[in-house]
Amino acid sequence: MRTAQRIANLPPYLFAEIDRKKAAKTAQGIDVISLGIGDPDTPTPEHIVDAMATAIRNPANHQYPSYVGAPRYRAACAQWMRSRFDVNLDSDTEVLALIGSKEGIAHLFTAFVDLGEYTLVPGCGYPVYHTGGIMVGGLTHWMPMTEENGFLADFESAPADVLAKAKMMFISYPNNPTSAIATEAYFDKAIAFAREHDILLIHDNAYSEIGFDGYAAPSILERPGARDVAIELFSCSKTYNMTGWRVAFACGNHEAIKALGTVKSNIDSGVFTAVQDAAIEAMLGPQDSTRELCDLYRRRRDLVLEALRKIGIQAATPKATIFVWARVPEGFTSTSFAEKVLQEANVIVAPGSAYGPSGEGFVRISLTTPDDRLEEAVRRIEATL
Ligand SMILES: Cc1ncc(COP(=O)(O)O)c(C=O)c1O
Repeated sequence: MRTAQRIANLPPYLFAEIDRKKAAKTAQGIDVISLGIGDPDTPTPEHIVDAMATAIRNPANHQYPSYVGAPRYRAACAQWMRSRFDVNLDSDTEVLALIGSKEGIAHLFTAFVDLGEYTLVPGCGYPVYHTGGIMVGGLTHWMPMTEENGFLADFESAPADVLAKAKMMFISYPNNPTSAIATEAYFDKAIAFAREHDILLIHDNAYSEIGFDGYAAPSILERPGARDVAIELFSCSKTYNMTGWRVAFACGNHEAIKALGTVKSNIDSGVFTAVQDAAIEAMLGPQDSTRELCDLYRRRRDLVLEALRKIGIQAATPKATIFVWARVPEGFTSTSFAEKVLQEANVIVAPGSAYGPSGEGFVRISLTTPDDRLEEAVRRIEATL
């Protein structure tokens, strides 16, 4: 079979690799604890499931969905943005339904990047920011992220020849995998930079609602001038434990929203309308479940941090997201440590280098595992050191 070169050019998809290794061990009867993938272990809240049960019985929902999202879904997204961030959007032109934010990220490349053009990608970040470019023959410029710069992707060091051919720039705070958060000043600099170089700025806010110790993440669209150059992505996946439902939205600059909508209307047929109805209930219904989720992750965060520090592994205390970003012990690389932990402790942690060059020297530990299994995992890691 003669597949396209772009398939051969793709690096192995991190999570598929992790699944493969886990399956091989499990097949040998070994109990593997996966702290690799960030997929909530607790169910979608009952009232959202109930809304879906009603919506699925509505025959009008059984037909092709709207490409851009049902007007009532887009209105709900706009209402959520208004009540959460005081950002006012025109739901007709500035909001677009997505089949999960991963879909939106991938299709942005088709909308904006031609052969040989660059995307500015966080030095470590969600893998599709990089692989999406490979799919369209685009190029990645990795923006350095270091502990010293607070893991704020450094766009200012991008060389002039890259900038001359750059079309998009991704940033994402609260950040996966580092759990870093951004300042308003950083957003303002990114907006000015995107304006100066005529680049579409995409702020991926997938973890907007998962904050601890009083931290509530901002929207980049709160910042002056953002709407001239930026769009922002929000997802029901982590906020409402809806990873399997595939529902998210893009909002912001109307020309970018239109371009992405044009791509989508030629490729997919939108989000199942019943799922959009369930997402409306998620966004406009009671928000207690998200608060409880934050309490759960905060408790697990503290449990993991305490255990890691006891065994001499350094990790900052995250204010947001479902991840702990930990420095690997002396003498290890990200992958050699992750491999040791897998082989000797039967625990999966994600090697930081799999998220990009700035991830070297770290591993990512996901908090989406029940407390007792998390404790057991850290005990097992301790026994290997
Ligand atoms: C930063 C970031 N963006 C986007 C996604 C994709 O989320 P979804 O497609 O489920 O909305 C994820 C998933 O883990 C993520 O971590």
